[in-house]
Amino acid sequence: MKRRPLLAGNWKMHKTVLEAYSLATEIEKCSAGLEDRDVILAPPFTAIHEVAKVLKDSCVEVAAQNVCWEEQGAFTGEISPEMLKSAGATAVIIGHSERRQIFHEDNEIINKRMKGALKFDLMPIFCIGETLEERESDKTFEVLEEQLRKGLTGIRSLEMKKTVLAYEPVWAIGTGKTATKEQAQEVHAFIRKLIAEMFEKDIADSVRILYGGSVKPDNVDELMAQPDIDGALVGGAALDAESFCRIINFI
Ligand code: 13P
Repeated sequence: MKRRPLLAGNWKMHKTVLEAYSLATEIEKCSAGLEDRDVILAPPFTAIHEVAKVLKDSCVEVAAQNVCWEEQGAFTGEISPEMLKSAGATAVIIGHSERRQIFHEDNEIINKRMKGALKFDLMPIFCIGETLEERESDKTFEVLEEQLRKGLTGIRSLEMKKTVLAYEPVWAIGTGKTATKEQAQEVHAFIRKLIAEMFEKDIADSVRILYGGSVKPDNVDELMAQPDIDGALVGGAALDAESFCRIINFI
């Protein structure tokens, strides 16, 4: 089945409003005419509104890097789905390994965030991935299965159709050490098979699974050529207009 490629840039905790404005402006230019793929930028919360304004007449969408499950209230430091939508976001990254590891977000809290995003019609980009230690002790598939089953608990088929998955091996993030295309393909095929078991085959066939972890201009083409890799979630290389432009123009 042909799935529409999706290239997303996760800016993490980088870029002031002014810097975000200029990077988004350059990406807006080089995304013109890309009709066969989707492009998403995920700036920090503080720049979402500015970036969305720059991109309003383009095909590039804006994502947040996290979301609360509540509508409003006493949740200091959190941002609600409606707030994100009012700032111009249409998608949100959930369960990134930096949230899991540094900020101790567990599968249960990530599941709540997933439900919050879906309830308010934000497209979740749900991230999973194993650490180096887990890979070396042959726990990769076990860990991924647990992250998927717990993170997607209670998600209905109709909601799953609106969800994007991202496989980001923790050992490949920001390390320059990309998973080989074979390693990534093997995991993506495993994820798709599990989604077929948890939901339905047609959902597994249509769900987009992005790869993330040291995606660069010089490895994007071979990764995107794998049958179960439908896109990329890019960190470092998304902070530079030239390299991200090359990535979104993958062949
Ligand atoms: P790098 O591309 O810098 O390895 O980061 C990947 C990532 O975490 C994207 O969400």
